[in-house]
Amino acid sequence: MKIGVLGSGDVAKALAGGFIKHGYDTMVGTRDSAKLAKWAAQNRPARVGSFSETAAFGEMVVLAVKGTASADALRAAGAANLAGKPVIDATNPIADAPPSNGVLNFTNLDESLMERLQREFADAKFVKAFNSVGSGRMVDPQLAGGKPTMFICGNDEAAKKKVGGILSQFGWETADISKAKSARAIEPLCMLWCIPGFLRNEWTHAFKLLK
Ligand SMILES: NC(=O)c1ccc[n+]([C@@H]2O[C@H](COP(=O)([O-])OP(=O)(O)OC[C@H]3O[C@@H](n4cnc5c(N)ncnc54)[C@H](OP(=O)(O)O)[C@@H]3O)[C@@H](O)[C@H]2O)c1
Repeated sequence: MKIGVLGSGDVAKALAGGFIKHGYDTMVGTRDSAKLAKWAAQNRPARVGSFSETAAFGEMVVLAVKGTASADALRAAGAANLAGKPVIDATNPIADAPPSNGVLNFTNLDESLMERLQREFADAKFVKAFNSVGSGRMVDPQLAGGKPTMFICGNDEAAKKKVGGILSQFGWETADISKAKSARAIEPLCMLWCIPGFLRNEWTHAFKLLK
């Protein structure tokens, strides 16, 4: 499966590096390829393209851009290039205002970012994942407490199954928390995850669901 990762930040680089490590033909997309030149040289055989080239290339697409810019990035990627494809949505709707008492501000808590994206890009198959762990633990996390749990959701069962397969390869257990609307619960896990970081500089934990 070919993977197109939209983004040039820590998350895009971590996930693209994971896909390359696990043998996937991977392209990373940005508005400015110079941002990825050093990373691409160190992560051969990574490909770098524009947002639209990357979305067209991927049979699965990963959205790893600033939350408030995610609709613009997907418009640049092109709805037709996303149609019918699983889109792993790692974004969070973080507002520009700084955290207060360690708590991030979200742009909107009445509806999730992923629901809005799913509505605008109706033919893409969004699956929320990787939004509630730091980029350093996204791929093959080594934690004293064992395998962590990734909470995912999305409307398309086949897309979630594919993402679950990737998560297994990347060293995660998957908890499927139902449809896109459940992103209202999964996105704020990012706020919870970040509080120990902002208050105590602890950034290496991950969540685990015990049954
Ligand atoms: N950092 C983490 O550990 C972490 C963990 C979990 C989830 N997340 C979420 O993952 C996402 C990516 O986080 P990040 O820290 O890697 O990077 P980031 O700094 O949040 O975002 C950088 C990316 O956003 C794109 N971008 C910014 N403004 C844009 C605009 N106006 N139009 C189009 N694209 C724009 C940039 O595109 P160009 O490449 O073209 O500059 C770049 O690829 C965020 O939504 C974040 O909340 C982050």
